[in-house]
Amino acid sequence: MDPFRLAAEALKSSGLTIAVTGAGISAESGIPTFRGNDGIWTKYPPDEYATIDAYNADPDKVWKFWLELAATLGGSQPNPAHYALAELEAMGKLEALITQNIDNLHEVAGSNNVIEYHGNAHWLVCPRCRHRDPLDLSQQTNSPPYCFCGTLMKPDVVMFGEAIPSQALVESARLAETCNCLIVVGTSAQVYPAARLPVLARQNGAFIIEANIEETDFTASVTHAFLKGPAGETLPKLVGYVKG
Ligand code: OAD
Repeated sequence: MDPFRLAAEALKSSGLTIAVTGAGISAESGIPTFRGNDGIWTKYPPDEYATIDAYNADPDKVWKFWLELAATLGGSQPNPAHYALAELEAMGKLEALITQNIDNLHEVAGSNNVIEYHGNAHWLVCPRCRHRDPLDLSQQTNSPPYCFCGTLMKPDVVMFGEAIPSQALVESARLAETCNCLIVVGTSAQVYPAARLPVLARQNGAFIIEANIEETDFTASVTHAFLKGPAGETLPKLVGYVKG
């Protein structure tokens, strides 16, 4: 059967659908993904730029990298894939969206129930008192700012070696365990615990729709309907099938 038709039927009959998104959904917004030849981690090895230990050891070096990344994200706009998921939510066909992305584009596209699994690059957080401030990109400082409590702030993103925010962790697992349908978009299935969510949903009987330009570790093991191609094309097409 046509995977789009199969996926649309599952969506129409599902009482509770959620989505899990990764960097691939923002690729068509001009944001590089993390892995692969042109990936961010190929240019900036994560053990030097993306671990909490690297940040604590040399905050200025890591700060410079995150400022550059935040500037790239700040200049980007949602693409048709983000809008397709916002439309599904507006149609009452998507309960919640769990994103590993830190770019804020789902919110800009109009999705309301977004769980930020890895934080948000547009904010700073104090590791001690958890005070948050918006990141002011007009201030190109060489060092991260201090919180009023005297602690060095950090980008409000989950670096390697840090825990997923507990509310996001618990709520995402609850949704994955109870949903009837899960749409996983543009993630390589390499980073845990996010990569566990589609597996958890499948184990609990959910129908799994996967949208990606290439097969992943999910495709043969958990996916029921694989929508191959750029998400900016496949997700609007899926919404069309759901409406049709
Ligand atoms: P990856 O860079 O690991 O994977 C991106 C995925 O998107 C790959 O499977 C690509 O095939 C797919 N892809 C690329 N372009 C696409 C398109 N136009 N349409 C659909 N799919 C496309 O990114 P993530 O899986 O998101 O964490 O990475 C997970 C986490 O690893 C990130 O959140 C980040 C990183 O370390 C943190 O920084 C905490």
